[in-house]
Amino acid sequence: MEKKFKRTLVTSALPYANGPVHIGHLAGVYVPADIYVRYLRLKGEDVLFIGGSDEHGVPVTIRAKKEGITPQDVVDRYHKIIKDSFEGFGISFDVYSRTTSNTHKELASDFFRKLYDNDKFVQLESEQYYDEGEQQFLTDRNIRGECPRCHAPEAYGDQCEKCGATLSPDELINPYNADSGNPLVKRKTTHWYLPLDQYQPWLEEWILGDHKEWRSNVYGQCKSWLDAGLRPRAVTRDLNWGIPVPVEGAEGKVLYVWFDAPIGYISNTKELLPDTWEQWWKSEDTRLVHFIGKDNIVFHCIVFPTMLKAHGDYILPDNVPSNEFLNLEDDKISTSRNWAVWLNEYLVDFPGKQDVLRYVLTANAPETKDNNFTWKDFQARNNNELVAVYGNFVNRALVLTKKYFDGKVPAVGTLTDYDNAIIEEFVNVKSEVEKLLDQFKFREAQKEAMNLARIGNRYLAETEPWKLAKTDLERVATILNLSLQLVANLATAFEPFLPFSSKKLRQMLNYPQFCWENLGRTDLLAEGHELGETGLLFEKIEDDAIQAQLDRLDRIKKENEAASYKANPIRPECTFDDFLKLDIRVGTVLECTKVPKADKLLQFKIDDGIGTRTILSGIAKHFKPEELVGKQVCFIANFPPRTMRGIVSEGMILSAEDNEGKLSLLTVEPTAKPGSEIK
Ligand code: MF3
Ligand code: ZN
Repeated sequence: MEKKFKRTLVTSALPYANGPVHIGHLAGVYVPADIYVRYLRLKGEDVLFIGGSDEHGVPVTIRAKKEGITPQDVVDRYHKIIKDSFEGFGISFDVYSRTTSNTHKELASDFFRKLYDNDKFVQLESEQYYDEGEQQFLTDRNIRGECPRCHAPEAYGDQCEKCGATLSPDELINPYNADSGNPLVKRKTTHWYLPLDQYQPWLEEWILGDHKEWRSNVYGQCKSWLDAGLRPRAVTRDLNWGIPVPVEGAEGKVLYVWFDAPIGYISNTKELLPDTWEQWWKSEDTRLVHFIGKDNIVFHCIVFPTMLKAHGDYILPDNVPSNEFLNLEDDKISTSRNWAVWLNEYLVDFPGKQDVLRYVLTANAPETKDNNFTWKDFQARNNNELVAVYGNFVNRALVLTKKYFDGKVPAVGTLTDYDNAIIEEFVNVKSEVEKLLDQFKFREAQKEAMNLARIGNRYLAETEPWKLAKTDLERVATILNLSLQLVANLATAFEPFLPFSSKKLRQMLNYPQFCWENLGRTDLLAEGHELGETGLLFEKIEDDAIQAQLDRLDRIKKENEAASYKANPIRPECTFDDFLKLDIRVGTVLECTKVPKADKLLQFKIDDGIGTRTILSGIAKHFKPEELVGKQVCFIANFPPRTMRGIVSEGMILSAEDNEGKLSLLTVEPTAKPGSEIK
């Protein structure tokens, strides 16, 4: 960290309180932020870690409507679930508050008012859809109508789910309110806009000029927004959930959720430190760092800094480490499709294994590109890395010390060249990990920490102290002393990443607290120091626990498929007479075989109640021929015969096909006599 800063203020995006938090949140924002602040605290730096729930916005109101409760009920429920989940995973916020707090409402309101009084906004009138019955303006998502492209009757104001077209409400034919069903009219409404265009030159200089060190994904996104040219953005909405616009004549209007939420960082600091918060937000020697996901970049790098600049009293972010997205089993994580691993559920399913998830999410962190979480990888990383490398080394060092030295740290004797080579390898770890953490490269930093355990395992495997115990106990003492120093180093190096395990390990070592500065030293544990109770640091995760998670995801996938399945549209009219032209009969399958060299064709011999007939059917991919013998099938009996592959086919077997091409055979009750007519 550069000298000019005295303290670091770390914020992590405030999650929407309209659902629980999942692994994507943890991987993208909260684990990296937590690693970073734990690291700074260990170094003895002055640091504050701000979190909280984002409780306004349209999604909250939609959820409330759906459940027949108030928006406040919704956010009360999820704020608690989210807060508990973060606590469960050891996300070490100094404060976790919420944007419905009084402190926040007041501060956000004052913030707006100051910009308003200083003429920082432009006021613009526009026409928006209005429901006269309900007396309310509508948001895009709450407007439905006929799609202008495919004419599906229920397209949304922002998208048609049938044909996938991106829409604006103005394009919909006969728009109506999705809740009330009322038709909509256009009505004029006034809003306040933040004139981002006026700040464009300043933003270009500040971001593109002064912050070339930002991650390339962040810098790149900012650049493309700036290259496209910024436009004024409305910061108020016609909505009844949010912070009222503190201006006369603005009844029924609230602050746009993206205006009030980032101010929540400030309010939550104020709530925690009512007397000294300003030092954290208004003093140039504070370094402000925002941890966010990639969908938040424009708000944290362009909109919020413009708000802060326009206000004038506040510092600007020094860095905005933003991650890409995490997928789950190769599919986009989605709250509405329930395609997620929910943190509150993980804590129940895997009690005591918070660090396993923290480890895996960091090892797979989507730092530079989208990444994928799979349960198999989760299991493999636990079993092959945490258990087999880290846990195994620690366990061997501790157990051997118990066995040969009664659980006391033995004395170091003369070091061999090999010992010295090992020491040299691990003294470098400190500067390596620091360098990476300072650059927000958490994934590589954790790998570096894990390297310590690999060094330890290699050391024990090479020196084999268990073989020397009878002949050279002094040498064993040296090996174990060095190994225990390495274990102590591991506990320290992993402290930011795996806080639960480091705590456990400190207890096993009977060592209250290490400090980061001592990382790399070989005299952390004094000779004669008595170790604590030893136990396993990590446990193997068995296949059945993983299978249970995969089964759950399978169930969800099936539910989603069923929910999103839409049959093909109905074909043009046909008359009963048209229908009667078809002679559809029941037949009993006597034989069924694959046609050689034709991978699609099955050859049936059918009892049609008069005699037997041969029918060819192109359904071999869908059925096993032997399973069809004996079935009562339906077939069209009066098609003209057709020759395929030299075989004459006399009819067509009927089956039901869904619009994804899946077939099921059309059969009737076994009691139906062959030759029965279907009408
Ligand atoms: N609630 C937003 C989201 O989940 C993040 C808000 S961050 C804040 O995407 F800065 F506005 F607080
Ligand atoms: Zn459409």
